[in-house]
Amino acid sequence: MCLTLPAKVLSVSDNKKAIILSGTKDLEISLGPVDDIKPGDWVLYTNEFLVKKVSEQDAREIFDLLSSYPKPDYDKLEDKFKNVLEVASRGTLTKSDLEYLLQIEDPAQLQALYSEANITRKANIKDHICIHGIIEFSNYCRNNCLYCGLRADNHEVQRYRLTPEEIVTAAVGAVDRGYKILVLQSGEDMGFSEETLYQIIKEIKNRCRVFLYLSIGDRPIEEYAKFRQVGAGGVLYRFETSNADLYSKMRPGHILSDRIDALKKLKKMGYVIATGSIIGLPGQTVEDLANDILLMKELDTFMPSFGPLIPSKNTPLAGESKVDFSMVLKMIAISRLVMPRSRISVTTAMETMRSTDGRQSAFMAGANSVMFNLTPASHRDDYYIYEDKFFDSGEKYEKWALFKGELSYQMMEQELNIEI
Ligand code: 5AD
Ligand code: SF4
Repeated sequence: MCLTLPAKVLSVSDNKKAIILSGTKDLEISLGPVDDIKPGDWVLYTNEFLVKKVSEQDAREIFDLLSSYPKPDYDKLEDKFKNVLEVASRGTLTKSDLEYLLQIEDPAQLQALYSEANITRKANIKDHICIHGIIEFSNYCRNNCLYCGLRADNHEVQRYRLTPEEIVTAAVGAVDRGYKILVLQSGEDMGFSEETLYQIIKEIKNRCRVFLYLSIGDRPIEEYAKFRQVGAGGVLYRFETSNADLYSKMRPGHILSDRIDALKKLKKMGYVIATGSIIGLPGQTVEDLANDILLMKELDTFMPSFGPLIPSKNTPLAGESKVDFSMVLKMIAISRLVMPRSRISVTTAMETMRSTDGRQSAFMAGANSVMFNLTPASHRDDYYIYEDKFFDSGEKYEKWALFKGELSYQMMEQELNIEI
């Protein structure tokens, strides 16, 4: 679903319409499900209708969340940088432009880059922030990715599997609260048979209207075809790095081309693609990161999903150093310039690195999508990809963003161009 926008009511007319002040603009808007408002009230609205009345403080908090960096003083920026931004506005950045932007460090240039990305976001998808809920239903994994705390060889992890009933209940409960997009995530757990997953997806889709992403790793492509038939709509399936050698080092026994082939096949099956990479893998270069962005674009990624490496204990990468957060923000901003209409996700790893202000700085650099963890509390800590994983159930956001009704579904379908 998409975050609503706050506004102040200026006047209310008899024909179930109101004039509201949003930012500096007056808008005439239908009252929708809201009756009982008067001039001076604060409301949330979306597209053509009001969603609900809120306190002034809630409205101001949303304004803060949607704030931007000030417009840069272009005269003070060096010519090469200005030229590259100019090229970006025409949508024709080359790989060497991306490498150049990934290496900028001057604070004024960084701010200008983030600001430009944010302007691009607003011009293309306004201030609509997509909210996803994620249910981590199993932490068993047969793989041994070097970076991941859930790797099979990590025997310190308390493994769990939710039952099919628990998964369906968590999903239906979330949809009842207003979530319209959910991610079902697990390690690569063959303990869930094709039939079990099929029944879970079918049951969720029968019981509620929701867009479902699967994040379950490599499974036979025929299984994905069946899951699609029964209503799964997207896959969250990262390529992790576009560098084939690095990929095989980080994911022993796997090759990048298999993953890319699978992503292309999934796309052909009609799945919406969410993919991306880890930033800060050992040996990764700026060229690799530029290629990661280009690969996301080439794969027609609807939701770019990438984040910093959080070195995790009990993994071979435990002793690695963390990448600078500004590199993450640069990746967001450049991805926005290269894929203006995409839903760029603020990922848990970004939040873990910077806590709550990670989310806001990511928005200010062009991100527009968040994911809240809806894993039942009894198992949340066991989904241990890395230490101190950030957790925020998103209650504050839920207050603003979760609203129900046919109109809200229609709005989301229209905004996201996906059917639910
Ligand atoms: N740091 C950051 N991201 C990680 N992932 C796994 N381990 C880590 C880590 N230590 C990411 C991978 C995977 C996703 C589920 O979590 O990109 O695809
Ligand atoms: Fe398993 Fe995914 Fe972790 Fe790799 S990243 S070990 S596939 S859960």
